[in-house]
Amino acid sequence: MAERKLGVLIHGAGWVSTQHIAAFTANPNTEVIAISSRTLASAEKRAQEAGLEVACYDDYDAALAHEGVDIVSVCTPQHVHAENTIAAANAGKHIAIEKPIAMTLDEMRAMRDAIGAAGVKTVVSFVLRWNPMFQKCKSLIAAGELGEIYSVETDYQSYLGDWWGGYEEGRSLDTGGSAMLVAGCHAIDALRWFAAPGEFEAATPVEVFACAGGKRKGSTRQYNPMTGKWSDGAPLEYDGLEIALVRFSNGVLGKVSVNFECIQPYTFPLSVFGDAGTIRDNRIYSHSDPEQDGWREIPGVRPDSSDVTHHPFQAQLDHFVECITADTESHCCFEDAVVTHEIALAAQECYRTNRPVSLPMI
Ligand SMILES: NC(=O)c1ccc[n+]([C@@H]2O[C@H](COP(=O)([O-])OP(=O)(O)OC[C@H]3O[C@@H](n4cnc5c(N)ncnc54)[C@H](OP(=O)(O)O)[C@@H]3O)[C@@H](O)[C@H]2O)c1
Repeated sequence: MAERKLGVLIHGAGWVSTQHIAAFTANPNTEVIAISSRTLASAEKRAQEAGLEVACYDDYDAALAHEGVDIVSVCTPQHVHAENTIAAANAGKHIAIEKPIAMTLDEMRAMRDAIGAAGVKTVVSFVLRWNPMFQKCKSLIAAGELGEIYSVETDYQSYLGDWWGGYEEGRSLDTGGSAMLVAGCHAIDALRWFAAPGEFEAATPVEVFACAGGKRKGSTRQYNPMTGKWSDGAPLEYDGLEIALVRFSNGVLGKVSVNFECIQPYTFPLSVFGDAGTIRDNRIYSHSDPEQDGWREIPGVRPDSSDVTHHPFQAQLDHFVECITADTESHCCFEDAVVTHEIALAAQECYRTNRPVSLPMI
């Protein structure tokens, strides 16, 4: 238990920040003491909605200098995550970084230097590592219920459109990057997570080959999965469908896709194949059970929602606070997230060269 509560600055007062604020407020060892954003009005609105009387800023440097800030939550759009993270590290703050952490390899190199020099703790919001059903699947794998894993498949299937407040930045090449980077990185991270046998371990990729396609790039016709209605809207500047094959250093083969153009409710399918059993979504078939005569259900909340209120931010950020107070590194720290992001960036390299890419690239 910390002697005083750790002070938290929330930077970027949009949709996802609501969950960082709620989680750090509920944690007994932390307290949100400041909120900053591009506009003061957004920061003040967010504070008011959360019932917090805290300092609000539209100047990030001034917010970082606010007395008592120990942790910064970077909740801005992805194209400013690198500069926001580097400034927080230079100010000596521990940092919770929203995904995607960066747009390029160069940005990640600069972030690595700043975080390393500052010696601060980091966590990246690959929140599905804390999804209850995924946690149960990971424990079953770690307990050997599937035997030795040889293949994993994960998919991020959504229809990203202007129902999302971050769509304007997220849809563009410069500020969103690609479907894999802006949201499919959750599926890449899950692929790495389930391709490793340890309970708190993610696998290391050594080779990636990817294809991109779909029908949506450049089209102004847009579907809203919440209302089921079509309308005109700003187009995606990149392909809406990407499929990547990943070879891991432990021999596991992975297939991961992101699909921003499927007409269906949001889903996050998972298949894990081992030499003694299989997991398919929330079902397991395992030879470790001699009585097994069909699929068994794996209990727990499934990862089938894009709504931030459904995501396990509380568990993720509680874990981060424990890492800070115990002076340990998170399994989902910046350095680990770099490996996940490299797969999304390697996929982009494949589209340029039409050749497999060897990893690591940085
Ligand atoms: N881990 C997850 O599952 C998850 C879920 C959702 C989103 N995210 C990620 O979280 C990030 C934010 O997404 P969101 O949905 O919260 O977007 P959002 O609702 O658009 O919120 C972004 C906020 O950042 C502020 N902002 C924009 N540019 C800024 C800048 N240059 N400097 C400072 N503040 C700036 C905006 O502030 P003003 O209102 O002041 O203009 C806006 O309130 C994205 O990278 C997204 O991928 C992650």
